[in-house]
Amino acid sequence: MTDRADASFKKPITVALTGASGAQYGLRLIDVLVAAGHEVWVMISKAAHMVIATETDIELPAQPQRLAEALSERSGAQPGQIRCFGREDWMAPVASGSGAPSTMVVCPCSTGTLSAVATGASNNLIERAADVAIKERRTLVLVPRESPFSPIHLEHMLTLSRLGVVILPAAPGFYHCPQTIDDLIDFIVARILNQLGIEHSLVPRWGEVGDKDE
Ligand SMILES: Cc1cc2nc3c(=O)[nH]c(=O)nc-3n(C[C@H](O)[C@H](O)[C@H](O)COP(=O)(O)O)c2cc1C
Repeated sequence: MTDRADASFKKPITVALTGASGAQYGLRLIDVLVAAGHEVWVMISKAAHMVIATETDIELPAQPQRLAEALSERSGAQPGQIRCFGREDWMAPVASGSGAPSTMVVCPCSTGTLSAVATGASNNLIERAADVAIKERRTLVLVPRESPFSPIHLEHMLTLSRLGVVILPAAPGFYHCPQTIDDLIDFIVARILNQLGIEHSLVPRWGEVGDKDE
């Protein structure tokens, strides 16, 4: 398999799911990016697999090739549109500035991964890919979820924000009058897509929300 992006898809975007609550945000993001025609490069941490098993009825294998097949089936991706990389696949393109896509999203982002990214730990491929994004001054969006945040979490977020990393907490608003959990998920996914400059109609933008009395 080549490390190059497939020209038949829009630019690749790296999506990493780590072990914070809210796996549905990341899974929905993958589906939406696939539907938008992007190539999606996916990494799912061991803890994220536990969260997915706890929070959803979705069964995902850990082995990268089988994971890619399972995610492709879920999202209706074309062959080759989703690629997955393992925890220590240091030869994956995301491990190097010369091969990594220009955009990476960690969604959801555990406070553990947040800490590792803030300190440049690079102990697994997700952390390394985020480190590459920072050193190459590329777009990196982290979607942390914890409550409450400790001073440690807040300091890491401030450090990263000052480096240009987008800290986009999984904190959906309610002003679009969500009726379902899917509406809440789409609120966050829409915010991520806004950061990536990807057009969508998941939720109305501010100013487009109709008057409820109309
Ligand atoms: C069901 C479940 C829910 C969790 N929720 C959170 C959470 O919301 N935020 C968080 O930072 N960690 C959460 N954790 C703990 C992380 O998964 C744990 O710290 C793990 O080491 C993170 O590893 P990773 O960053 O490599 O995915 C949760 C774990 C499980 C099993």
